[in-house]
Amino acid sequence: MNIITPTADGSNTLYNETIGEHYHSKHGALQESKHVFIDAGLKFASVGKAEISILEVGFGTGLNFILSFEYCTLNNIKLDYTSIEAFPLTIDVIKQTRYSEYVSEQTWKGFISNYESALKTEQTISPICDLEIPHTTLADFETDKKFDVIYYDAFSVQHQPEMWSDEIIAHACSFLKPGGTFVTYAITGKLKRAVKANGFTIEKLPGAPGKREMLRAIKA
Ligand SMILES: C[S@@+](CC[C@H](N)C(=O)[O-])C[C@H]1O[C@@H](n2cnc3c(N)ncnc32)[C@H](O)[C@@H]1O
Repeated sequence: MNIITPTADGSNTLYNETIGEHYHSKHGALQESKHVFIDAGLKFASVGKAEISILEVGFGTGLNFILSFEYCTLNNIKLDYTSIEAFPLTIDVIKQTRYSEYVSEQTWKGFISNYESALKTEQTISPICDLEIPHTTLADFETDKKFDVIYYDAFSVQHQPEMWSDEIIAHACSFLKPGGTFVTYAITGKLKRAVKANGFTIEKLPGAPGKREMLRAIKA
């Protein structure tokens, strides 16, 4: 069961009773998504690019997706977005987040009208955006594609340690192009070692409010 819960910046998140964790930071869902994934990930990696491909781990409510779609639309960047999700939310729960308030009507409608189809196969949701949400676990996910950016947005190591093992991090990193960018809200010694072991250089960046630091890593 997922319960809609307000966060400190006024945006909602979901509380997942089974896992015992929120989908986003209680200090602000919207500000965390913008800080970690849009600013440190997409804006950084898309400088000078006309197109970008993103692999997200954990589609959840789609907040990272709609903000990315909006940013790429406004900046005329072609977006190929793949987001792995083991336990897709219903469209009714997604609508209850009220994230429609943070993007244009066109972006929201493009997302909502294609969400359920994107869980089955890739959808072209606008002239600049393709979306696919493979309904699978990260461990079972396979593709021939390589991506420019990985948004690693799994539940925390305290609640889902299997999503932070050296093996699963290596599996995720294998889908990134050389020079690609890996971003996540978390940073631990174990994670830094796992990412470095895959040939990445790491950067500690200031975290979103409520977290001192976050990780950005670049594949050699
Ligand atoms: C922190 S939430 C993601 C929040 C999301 N990015 C958003 O903007 O709402 C973690 C997500 O990972 C999904 N998940 C849990 N186990 C998974 C697995 N083994 N493989 C892929 N996704 C998983 C959960 O269902 C949940 O949607």
